Amino acid sequence: MNIRPARIDDLMGMQACNLQNLPENYTMRYYLYHALTWPQLSYVAEDHKGRIVGYILAKMEEDVGADDEPHGHVTSISVLRSYRRLGLAKRLMVQSQEAMATIYRASYVSLHVRKSNRAALSLYKDTLGFTVRDIEKKYYADGEDAYAMRLSLKHLA
Ligand code: ACO
Repeated sequence: MNIRPARIDDLMGMQACNLQNLPENYTMRYYLYHALTWPQLSYVAEDHKGRIVGYILAKMEEDVGADDEPHGHVTSISVLRSYRRLGLAKRLMVQSQEAMATIYRASYVSLHVRKSNRAALSLYKDTLGFTVRDIEKKYYADGEDAYAMRLSLKHLA
């Protein structure tokens, strides 16, 4: 399985993958905004026929307060069910994190995850070393709480 930077013509495949995997969905305009603004931060995983089987959609946080440092944010990541547990999500995360740190001087990366999402929590906490910074009550449309998580990227800068 190949991991490479996402191109504009991948966005439909990324959106299809997202629709299959997650209830948090986005307009094509929002995918385009990511790809045009931070073209180095989103990646896809493709199979041997070039079909998209996973993606990471990521950005730099725009709403940075005066006392906060520049940081990246993972808007969405998912991998199609039959391609899970192959290390693809880890590779997608690491590629994006490296680009955030080296290209945009991000000092950390943030994301939100459902409290009940065991697979993703294990990926973030145990595999990548994220920590929980906060609990955002009723963050999701169905009322579920989110963990706001962070990982320092200072060692990559
Ligand atoms: N149960 C427990 N731990 C898991 C699981 C699981 N089902 N899946 C992954 N992990 C952990 C393990 O520690 C794993 O390492 P190991 O396989 O050596 O034990 C590690 O994460 C790395 O796993 P990957 O193979 O890289 O993860 P995968 O490619 O399977 O993708 C993902 C993980 C993205 C969470 C996938 O299950 C998925 O697409 N789920 C549905 C969508 C989703 O929940 N996305 C995240 C939402 S939050 C956000 O987008 C910011």
